[in-house]
Amino acid sequence: MRIVQSPDGMQHLAMDARRNGQKIAFVPTMGFLHEGHLSLCRAARERGDLVVLSIFVNPTQFGQGEDFEVYPRDLNRDAELAKSTGVDILFAPDAASMYPDGYATYVDVERLTEPLCGANRPGHFRGVTTVVAKLFNIVRPDMAFFGQKDFQQLAVIRRMTRDMNFPVEIVGMPIVREEDGLAMSSRNVNLSGHYRHQALALVDALRVGVDAVRQGKSEARLVLLEARNRIGREPDADIDYIQICHRDTLEDMEQVTEDSVLLLAVRFGDVRLIDNHVLNEELNV
Ligand code: PAJ
Repeated sequence: MRIVQSPDGMQHLAMDARRNGQKIAFVPTMGFLHEGHLSLCRAARERGDLVVLSIFVNPTQFGQGEDFEVYPRDLNRDAELAKSTGVDILFAPDAASMYPDGYATYVDVERLTEPLCGANRPGHFRGVTTVVAKLFNIVRPDMAFFGQKDFQQLAVIRRMTRDMNFPVEIVGMPIVREEDGLAMSSRNVNLSGHYRHQALALVDALRVGVDAVRQGKSEARLVLLEARNRIGREPDADIDYIQICHRDTLEDMEQVTEDSVLLLAVRFGDVRLIDNHVLNEELNV
């Protein structure tokens, strides 16, 4: 596995690979890899000739007072894990090479970025779409792998890819969970013991939602009430949002249908966790 730091160097390698007819499969991440990330790498390995993993804690997607400084980082450990899944190139640029002095260009997706995380983290998706657009131009992938854990991010990236005519197939991958159901996240290491236990309320709330629908409840308001009550049982849970939205438009729904997804974001102290589940699908945890 090669480790490449310079965007120009990465772009040259990508262009060489494409000239040789290789299909490039790309997994963008912010590192501190866990099984969720590694599942994307393995899927990329199955489909691509050249697998590129990027690790870049992207400053433009963190707001004032968010956790950019304390976001966990460990490149040596990540490199070992990446290698074990068969990644060919680990692209790990630094902020100065991605956003040099005078940097002035941003990609902004309208509408889909407004609700949910967009409402709670102003500017966040502008940072995400900007960096992903840059990474697509640097890595020149044929396909790129994203987790459904970040459901809104995946929808936004699909929209940007269509709207900007990026010749990239976007592949969405299922949420990987800890044995007890907590969705894997690099941020989980920042959860102290008693928060870690309370954080199970997120997946429990999804379960409560799925069960309510299965028992015949179809009014979103009533399903949400039950899910919210479940989170409310945890003394330190601070709900950012809990909503039932259409899986494609992310608009709020009054009635639950097979296109409904329950999405939530909850804070425990300084750690903000997200999770989601399509309501008519089984939740096997
Ligand atoms: P990061 O949070 O590191 O996540 C990288 C990719 O891994 C995303 O596509 C995310 O959805 C996926 N992922 C994270 N946890 C997962 C889990 N438990 N199961 C399945 N997939 C999971 O998302 C970002 O980085 C950044 O916003 C990025 C797209 C790299 C742009 O900076």
